[in-house]
Amino acid sequence: MTDTAPRTEASHPSGDDRFELVDKHLKRGRYAQDQLIETLHVAQDVFGFLSEDVLMYVARALRLPPSMVYGVATFYQLFTFDPPGDHSCTVCTGTACFVKGADEIVAGVSSAHDVPSGQTSADGRLTLKTARCLGSCGLAPVVVLDGEVLGHQTAESTLEGVALALDTEGAG
Ligand code: FES
Repeated sequence: MTDTAPRTEASHPSGDDRFELVDKHLKRGRYAQDQLIETLHVAQDVFGFLSEDVLMYVARALRLPPSMVYGVATFYQLFTFDPPGDHSCTVCTGTACFVKGADEIVAGVSSAHDVPSGQTSADGRLTLKTARCLGSCGLAPVVVLDGEVLGHQTAESTLEGVALALDTEGAG
């Protein structure tokens, strides 16, 4: 075995077909180690989050120490390590949103739904995240609820939106 041997597709630890999509990306990049961040992005797009299995898989494929892959992945806020909930609420905490009360929105949703920021509620229904400037400062404070950008939010309006989103799916 040599380090210069051409790389071939790694095996899929779980037989999950989604690993093939990650493989395609790795192959296109010729398994270059500087593809790490891009590969993690692709893996997150494909799986929705970065599980330990996926991180180990990427580390092995790029021949990088797992500690380095974990280190890089945890450094960037864009990566998430838990399965997303059925609904997502992302509160912008960039400067413009912060000065207009983004923290109150985060605290309100967190307390009402018993979900710490950056995590998913125990029932798996709501993921609460924060983001840096979403590029819509004129609408501050901005919340993205299930992909919909909502401007000029308050804790109350966001809670109403979240309740509506949860209600439309889980009422009964
Ligand atoms: S700071 Fe929130 S959109 Fe810019």
